[in-house]
Amino acid sequence: MSSENKNKIPNSLNEHWMPFTSNKDFKEKPRLITEAKGVYLKNHEGNTQIDASSGLFCNPLGHGRIEIINAITNQLKTLDYAQPFQQGFGGSFELATRISKHTPGNLNRIFYTICGSTAVETAIKISVAYHKARGEGQRFRFVGRERAYHGMNIGATSVGGMINNVKAYASVLMPGVVHMRHTHLEDHKFISGQPETGVELADDLERICSNFGAENIAACIVEPIAGSTGTLVPPVGYLQRLRELCDKHNILLIFDEVITGWGRTGSAFGAQEFGVTPDIMTMAKATTNGIVPFGVVACKEEIYDAVLDASPKGAVELFHGYTYSGIPISVAAALAVQDIFEKEDIFNRAKEMSSYFQDGLFSLKDIDVVENIRGYGMMGGIDIRKDTRPGKAGLETFKHCYDAGVNFKATGDALIIAPMFICEKKHIDEIIEKLRTGITNYSRSKKN
Ligand SMILES: Cc1ncc(COP(=O)(O)O)c(C=O)c1O
Repeated sequence: MSSENKNKIPNSLNEHWMPFTSNKDFKEKPRLITEAKGVYLKNHEGNTQIDASSGLFCNPLGHGRIEIINAITNQLKTLDYAQPFQQGFGGSFELATRISKHTPGNLNRIFYTICGSTAVETAIKISVAYHKARGEGQRFRFVGRERAYHGMNIGATSVGGMINNVKAYASVLMPGVVHMRHTHLEDHKFISGQPETGVELADDLERICSNFGAENIAACIVEPIAGSTGTLVPPVGYLQRLRELCDKHNILLIFDEVITGWGRTGSAFGAQEFGVTPDIMTMAKATTNGIVPFGVVACKEEIYDAVLDASPKGAVELFHGYTYSGIPISVAAALAVQDIFEKEDIFNRAKEMSSYFQDGLFSLKDIDVVENIRGYGMMGGIDIRKDTRPGKAGLETFKHCYDAGVNFKATGDALIIAPMFICEKKHIDEIIEKLRTGITNYSRSKKN
C-alpha cells in the first residue's frame, strides 16, 4: 500500500450525516479509511490496521479480491442494468440455482433484495402473502426476540429487539409484534459455543401463542446466533424447540442468516450448523463479500407454490420488489463469490480456524474491564464493563483499539469480533495481540 495517506481529511465534514455514528465526536477527530487489501486497512494517518470484524461481517474473503472486481467490471461492460420487473437476465437464475444448492431442505425459491433490511422486510411480506394464500389472512402478528438486530427499515426495526433502535421509533413501528426474551442468562459467562442452560426460553413462543392466539401469528423470526448484540449463541436445543412450536401452530420460522450465512459458523448456514431447517431464510453481507449491496430471501418450495397458486395466470403473484432487486453487478459479484467459496473450500477453512480463533478470543478474559466473552465459529463478542452510560466504554475501547491498529465495530459496550475466513494463524494472533493492547490501554486510561 502507498504511504501517501496523510492529510486526507476533506475540506468540510459538516454535510455528511453519518449512520450509527456519534457525529459530533467523530467530526472533532475523524477516522477515515483510505485503503483496503486482504486483511488490512489503512487510515488517513497512514497507519495500517488489521480488520477484525470483516467490515460489518461482510468481507470474509478479504478486501480487494480481483476475481470479484473483474466480474463486476466485465458485467458493467456488457449489461450494466436491466429493470427487473416482468423481464430478467440469465445471471440471476444461475445464481438462484447455485444459492439453492447450499440452502437447507427445500428452501429453493430465491427472491432478491437490496440489503439485509430489505431481505427481512421481504420475508415478513412473503409470510403474510403465504398465509393469505392459504386462507389464513388473519395471521398478522410477528414474534421477534429481545436483543435481535434485523435491520433498520420499519419492518426490520419492528421485529428487532435492540432497545435504542426500537425506542427511538416506537410510534411508527408495525403493530402486532411481540418479543420473546433474549437468551442470555447470568450463568452464561465466558462460554465458548452453545450454553447448556436456557432451552426453556424458547417456551416464550408457546406463552405468546397462549396470550395472543397462535392462529393470529404469521411468523417467528430469529438470528440463529444474534450477531450485532455481541454474539449470543443459542442454548443447546433452543432452535429445535422453536421449530417444534412453529410446526405445532403452523407458524413460519424465519432464520435471519444475514450474519451467520455463508460460513460464519463453519457450515454454509446456521440452519445446518444447528440442525434446524427454517421455512424462510434471509442473507446479505457475505453474499457479495460486502462489495456491492445485495440481499436474498430463500423460501420453501411450498411457500412459493402456495402464493403462485392463489393467483390467476398472468397476474403478478407477489406485489413486492425493488428497482435494485438482483441487479447485474450484485449478481456478478455474488457469482464470483460462489466460485471462490468452492475453489477455496471456504466454509471448511472457517471451520478449521474456529477453535484457534476462539482460544485467542477467550485468552482476553483476564483483562480487568472485560466483563464477558461469547463466541462461536468465526464470531465473537467481548463485553466491556459499563461506564457512566451504556455505549461509552464500547466507543472509548473501540478508539483505543483503532489507535492500536485493530479495526472492528462496537455495538453499545460489546466489541464485535469476526475475522475474515482467509485469516491465517498469524493474523488471528495479530488481532488478539492488538485487542489486548487496545483494551488494556482503555483500562489504563480509566485509572489515570
Ligand atoms: C442479522 C441481520 N439482519 C439484517 C441486517 C440488516 O442488514 P443491512 O444493514 O444490509 O440492511 C443486519 C445488519 O447487520 C443483521 O446483522
